[in-house]
Amino acid sequence: MKILVIGGGGREHAITWRLAQETGVRLWASPGNPGIARVATCLAPPRSGVDGYLQVADSIQPDLTVVGPEAPLVAGLTDAFQSRGFRVLGPARNAAQLEASKIFAKHVMAEAAIPTAGYRVTQTPDEASACIRDFRYPLVLKADGLAAGKGVVIADNLPEAESALRTLRSSFGPRILIEEFLQGEEASFIVLSDGRNVLPLEASQDHKTIHDDDKGPNTGGMGAYCDGRILTAAQTAEIMDRVIRPTIHYMEAQGTPFSGFLYAGLMMTQQGPKVLEFNVRLGDPEAQSLLHRIQGGFANALFAAASGKLGGVTLDWKSSPSVCVVLASAGYPDQPRTGDPISGVEQAEDTGAVVFQAGTRAGATALETAGGRVLGVTAAGVDLRQAIDNAYRGVAAIHFDGMQFRKDIGRKGLKRW
Ligand code: AMP
Ligand code: GLY
Repeated sequence: MKILVIGGGGREHAITWRLAQETGVRLWASPGNPGIARVATCLAPPRSGVDGYLQVADSIQPDLTVVGPEAPLVAGLTDAFQSRGFRVLGPARNAAQLEASKIFAKHVMAEAAIPTAGYRVTQTPDEASACIRDFRYPLVLKADGLAAGKGVVIADNLPEAESALRTLRSSFGPRILIEEFLQGEEASFIVLSDGRNVLPLEASQDHKTIHDDDKGPNTGGMGAYCDGRILTAAQTAEIMDRVIRPTIHYMEAQGTPFSGFLYAGLMMTQQGPKVLEFNVRLGDPEAQSLLHRIQGGFANALFAAASGKLGGVTLDWKSSPSVCVVLASAGYPDQPRTGDPISGVEQAEDTGAVVFQAGTRAGATALETAGGRVLGVTAAGVDLRQAIDNAYRGVAAIHFDGMQFRKDIGRKGLKRW
């Protein structure tokens, strides 16, 4: 089977790394990165946008295209590929609105009675200003539209909310969602769907802020772990019954079926799970920890989901937990510096860790940094403690100037062991 993976980050390295271990799979990636190039043929799209990827697909004639990031899905890659006769895993543009518009997602949640934070949608600056005077604090302000993790602000008081409103409006436009602040532990619950059938993945947990103990500004994610103890069987059943199945059924009933990876970002509150956001793809870095634990059946599951035939399909999971520690460049998340030489990737891999590459490029003499999140050092262990230690042993082998990483990835999960 010829598979083309769209994207060039750590998540796409994890997808191609996993697929490369399965028999009968030949792999291409576009644009890919130096890590992905070790397991797949990387092709730069000849021009930007969906048309560039279509040209790549025309030259390969893949049996399956797997889309990693949200932007090409929101831009209609799936629609364009399907009308050219290509089989694609990833939602069509209409269904990708679940991530592209937080207001659309709230509308779906209201219609399908899916538990989420109480909210108001404001369309004008006056409406928003009036709303933040009435609302209970802390409150959460969210821009509508894709904001690469920068569109959410938690405000503790009115002056903070006013200042956040100004910033969000000037960066992302006037439509602002104002939302109740929820307390609890977050979990990432991702499922694979063919539009009707659902195959849940194990739960994982991201670490969103740049500093330890959930301090500092939000990032795309500084590390993740995947461990069967994050949710109980009862919690998983409740999430499937109250969040996932109602969403999939609602989208199908609307004539905009969701096929691909549906990611529910959840707050596990005292009243049960509540949805913080939907994403229409695998999380990054959650994917790195998830795919490290999948033993087999991945290519088959992706092909089945893209073909409307996911019923009865299963995945084979390792029981050992996994941990992915992200190494970020100097200046991330605000102004990531690029061009710093990276050393120690092979030594890290000699410790048994897998080093997924994200913002890297081949420099004149060595691999060098080329983006905010640079590497994701991933390892397993017989228990979570050992998985954490193994991942950090890999981290210790790697160096680049200004390297930032959190020291507490996975620590929250230790209380469940
Ligand atoms: P989102 O992009 O909507 O997932 O928001 C980014 C992050 O902001 C989440 O992962 C949470 O840590 C936090 N957050 C978002 N909405 C809420 C909420 N209603 N209550 C508490 N924290 C929230
Ligand atoms: N790690 C969070 C995300 O992928 O959106």
